[in-house]
Amino acid sequence: MRVCFVCLGNICRSPTAEAVMRHRVREAGLEGVIEVESAGTGSWHVGDPPDARAAAEARARGIPMTGAARRFGRGDFDRFDLVLAMDRENAAHLRRIAPDGRAAAKVRLLREFDPRSAGGDLSVPDPYYGGPEGFSTVFDLVDAACLGLIDHLRP
Ligand code: 4NP
Repeated sequence: MRVCFVCLGNICRSPTAEAVMRHRVREAGLEGVIEVESAGTGSWHVGDPPDARAAAEARARGIPMTGAARRFGRGDFDRFDLVLAMDRENAAHLRRIAPDGRAAAKVRLLREFDPRSAGGDLSVPDPYYGGPEGFSTVFDLVDAACLGLIDHLRP
């Protein structure tokens, strides 16, 4: 099972989700069963490391964040079973570039998998232009959704 988290820049939200999910997958003993990557819909930050504020938040929670930003392309749909968007704009972009209906059906919002967000706002808010509390919120939202996602994917 291959999962890709997608936000706009691939430096704040989706690399946080990738790091948190990898940590939770390991904790659940599902390494090698669930594989995790991340990407962005935009190209401004391609090659950049994770945003220092996102990395600091993750580090404070005991989770290392590494990697370099990349852009999600049409060809990537073949490589993943699920493409998990952080917000509705990211999801709309992904569905627009999907080569066919089968690919488009792989696109879901990450927070759909958080049982506590049922009926509420399903976005992970973009923290880029805000203060440090935004990164703490991102971490909490992403972590809750990743736990739900693991329950959903558990064989
Ligand atoms: P991300 O955050 O999508 O969570 O990685 C952003 C990073 C960069 C920009 C916007 C959002 N930007 O406009 O450069």
